[in-house]
Amino acid sequence: MQVFDQVRDMQLQSLSWRAAGWRIAFVPTMGNLHEGHLDLVREAARRADQVVVSVFVNPLQFNDVADFQRYPRTLNDDLRQLSKLNVAAVFTPGEAAMYPEGRESVTRVEVPQLTDELEGAHRPGHFTGVATVVTKLFQAVLPDVALFGEKDYQQLLVVRKLVADLNLPLEIVGRPTRREPDGLAMSSRNRQLSADERRQATRLYATLQWVAEQVRAGQRHFAELEAGAWEQLVTAGFEPEYISIRSAADLRLPAGGEPLVVLGAARLGRVRLIDNLRI
Ligand code: PAF
Repeated sequence: MQVFDQVRDMQLQSLSWRAAGWRIAFVPTMGNLHEGHLDLVREAARRADQVVVSVFVNPLQFNDVADFQRYPRTLNDDLRQLSKLNVAAVFTPGEAAMYPEGRESVTRVEVPQLTDELEGAHRPGHFTGVATVVTKLFQAVLPDVALFGEKDYQQLLVVRKLVADLNLPLEIVGRPTRREPDGLAMSSRNRQLSADERRQATRLYATLQWVAEQVRAGQRHFAELEAGAWEQLVTAGFEPEYISIRSAADLRLPAGGEPLVVLGAARLGRVRLIDNLRI
């Protein structure tokens, strides 16, 4: 397994794989890998000849400096886990490699409308940071296919849209959310929960399941359901940010009859959790 920390070195390796006719699959991450990431890596290996994983905690997508500073960084452990899988290269650029002239002046990629609500409304600038870094990572790794977890559902749609709008020649694959045995969606942030918060945290998924069951049972008063879910989260000790039933295809408000997704974000102490469930 090779490790590259410069964009040009990564590109040269990918160009030589492409010249040899090999297919490249890419899994972008911010490190602190868990089973959800490893599932993406295993699926990547099924879809291509060479698998590249990136580890970069992207400052441009954090709207909260404290959140960026305490984001867990465990590169040695990440490399150890990846070395046991079928990974050809890990791309670990530092900030200077990704934003050599500083991140303030870097050219940005914006995906309007889709990013105005939900995560976008609560984390101003977040999706511009994600869209920008993902585009730059694609240009460094030159993949044929890139894999993303559905836990960050809005992010997955944002990436699909930027790839379509900018005519980027790669396929985007979404993979189902991996969960702990009690239902909590796997996330690097879970490790920041205290033991009590970890027990409470399962209520987020349980609440989304309750909403999904009500919709499946024919309840169509979505605003009432969202308010009921909000109450449940408050009672369980959360500070909810949003609970919203949306069209699964584009996150618009449901018009009727289309596949739906319920999405939620809520704070537990200083940890912000998000989750979603297709209905
Ligand atoms: O989902 C993540 O870990 C990040 O948003 C990503 C896609 C690696 C971009 O920094």
